[in-house]
Amino acid sequence: MTVRIRTDPTGLPADNISIKAPAKVNLYLKIVNKRGDGYHNLLSLMQMVGLYDLLTLEKRPSGIGLEVIGSTVPNDGSNLVHRAATLLQKEAGLVRGELPGVQITLLKKIPVAAGLGGGSSDAAATLIGLNRLWSLDWSFERLADLAAELGSDLPFFFYGPTAWVSGRGEKIEPIHPFFKGWIVLANPGIGVATAWVYEQLSKKMELTKEAPNITINPSLEEVLRQPYNDLEKVTLEAFPDLIQIKRELQALGGEGVLMSGSGPTLFARFSKHEAARKTVVSLKKKSSLQVWLAPVLTRPPF
Ligand code: C5P
Repeated sequence: MTVRIRTDPTGLPADNISIKAPAKVNLYLKIVNKRGDGYHNLLSLMQMVGLYDLLTLEKRPSGIGLEVIGSTVPNDGSNLVHRAATLLQKEAGLVRGELPGVQITLLKKIPVAAGLGGGSSDAAATLIGLNRLWSLDWSFERLADLAAELGSDLPFFFYGPTAWVSGRGEKIEPIHPFFKGWIVLANPGIGVATAWVYEQLSKKMELTKEAPNITINPSLEEVLRQPYNDLEKVTLEAFPDLIQIKRELQALGGEGVLMSGSGPTLFARFSKHEAARKTVVSLKKKSSLQVWLAPVLTRPPF
């Protein structure tokens, strides 16, 4: 995520911030066990990619306002961006005294309920942007801890672009980005609820309540050679048309073709931009899929 802070001629931070929120893909996703609290422990390798939503944050005297452009997601208190702003205003306000309000504009480009972490990234970007707009000076660690209250995928966005993620999603081990190139993303235009996918998986798998003592990360070479996602079988079974899209991505030269998160977005790696571009053109011609070409992010986005 790139943060642009406009400054006035006096050099003081202005009252207006623009911030880009990137999508993520899961290069590896293993569900380890079902926990007593209903969540699942997992082990995932997450990677940010350059498909972005755009947020602008504007100081206002009080209250939190949200306008969403490019999507029908609600703009009320149920929106994760709204919830993130409200939570930070409350938490930081307890220490700092009453904080001003904010008017947020969210331009959606990342598809919703797609397995790309768009809503989580938007909420993380909101916390990072507000930390600067309100001059709170919180560390990313502290923001990430607060963010974990809002959703399992949020903490990763404070430590990207590449990280092993475990626990419910709150344990993050950042690593150096280990491959460069391009990701082609293909989405059939349907949304899939994460909770539903986990529920189906629980029925299918003999998941123990006890966490195994040792969870060994596969090597990065293994992940590239043999990408894996436990949630894929559930979503592919519910939407078998996805299997054909997987085959097409493979036939067009995509490597590591896999579903991201709980889906339904499928992605493929390409080392050459031209091959990735041709794949996008070919898929768009043949089908009504939404297709994007996004660079693998190799630098921390903030
Ligand atoms: O944390 P988040 O609100 O994104 O999770 C959505 C749903 O996905 C949860 O309510 C839960 O059913 C499921 N989930 C899970 N284990 C995780 C993450 C999510 O069971 N680690």
